[in-house]
Amino acid sequence: MRSDRGAAAVTALLRRWHARHAAAHPLPLGTHAYWQQAYAATDRGRAPSEWFLEAAAAADEVCTAHRLHGSGGETGALRALHVGCGTSHLGAALADAFGPRLARVVNTDFSAAALATLEAELAGRAEQEYLLSDMSSEGCALPQADLVVDKGTLDAVVFAGAPSTANFLCAVRDCMAPGAVYVHFTEEPPDYRTEVIEAAFDAERWRIAAATVEDDDSVPNTYFRYSVWRREDVG
Ligand SMILES: C[S@@+](CC[C@H](N)C(=O)[O-])C[C@H]1O[C@@H](n2cnc3c(N)ncnc32)[C@H](O)[C@@H]1O
Repeated sequence: MRSDRGAAAVTALLRRWHARHAAAHPLPLGTHAYWQQAYAATDRGRAPSEWFLEAAAAADEVCTAHRLHGSGGETGALRALHVGCGTSHLGAALADAFGPRLARVVNTDFSAAALATLEAELAGRAEQEYLLSDMSSEGCALPQADLVVDKGTLDAVVFAGAPSTANFLCAVRDCMAPGAVYVHFTEEPPDYRTEVIEAAFDAERWRIAAATVEDDDSVPNTYFRYSVWRREDVG
């Protein structure tokens, strides 16, 4: 069996997708300056505290994805990594949803302003940790995790270009412990988003499943939950 693709090979696969999509409709969502300014602004107009789904609803979806595709989960065993956390309380919601099975949540983002706000808001939650990291940087190494949770982060990263997207996806993939699941929430449907994920998670070694998130009628948008796990793992 082949080994996982390196960042250069992933970049090469992503270039055509980028030319067709993100580069054709450029937005500043992939830049550090945009997010740092948004989270530091007093009105926080461009940085809502929760993107897409509410934290508790997303945490329930992560539990479902882990039950279907993950392994492990005895008391105190699960390490979660909340990538591009912003000021989302999903980390706390994960701890509530998984209960004693969850050992810790590392909330990571490249905006120090977001992390400072989140840490203040979740003060007293001992299982929550905070890590300043640019996941689009070359060779970014993240702590090993059994659950990697991404609510709207890949959606922003794609606007940083093919090499940055490749670095992000490789960092996610390479921190996944045996039995781990990467759970990504987005508005983007499979015919648009699967090609991006597949560039780093090749079909010989990884499985990708997309599901529509169940919502009540108060939410007008359709959201998708993508789950990614190793072929040799369960599910
Ligand atoms: C659309 S927001 C989603 C925030 C949060 N996950 C939520 O659901 O509310 C995208 C987040 O990704 C973060 N982000 C974007 N690019 C990043 C990178 N290269 N490294 C780390 N975080 C990044 C931004 O700072 C922002 O917090």
